[in-house]
Amino acid sequence: MDEKESAEKLNSLIQLDIDAVHAYDQAIENIDVTAIRNQLTEYRDDHNDHIKQLSMEVRALGKEPPEYSPDFKGYLIKGFTSLRSMTGTEGSLKAMQTNEHLTNKNYSEAVNWQLPESARQIVEKNYSDERIHLEYIENILKSRIWEK
Ligand SMILES: [Fe+2]
Ligand SMILES: [Fe+2]
Repeated sequence: MDEKESAEKLNSLIQLDIDAVHAYDQAIENIDVTAIRNQLTEYRDDHNDHIKQLSMEVRALGKEPPEYSPDFKGYLIKGFTSLRSMTGTEGSLKAMQTNEHLTNKNYSEAVNWQLPESARQIVEKNYSDERIHLEYIENILKSRIWEK
């Protein structure tokens, strides 16, 4: 993969992480169980770290990363489920499960890209975060803790 292609690929991951941050922001607003909200806030911050670190790699390749705009709440990645129509804790968690399936799928492909070594390591680390996010959401959905 040449530098231009590496930067373009990394930019697609950054856009995915930007959409994930917006989705987490909406989910956090919709969920009234404090423990879940706190955990999702941590995961939202993981995605912010992913954006920062991948953006540094893109700049090192001489390209510009996509801009993060906090007020834009739409999604640029196809497949992201909006939380606007979701109500309550369960609906929000189900939407986030769909979204984390998508981030996991994309990262599982990205670990096989022929990237510069420093970028490849970041992608590996991010993918391990994504697996933790999905696992938590699936476990908490099974627990139905909000009904207790
Ligand atoms: Fe992420
Ligand atoms: Fe995630």
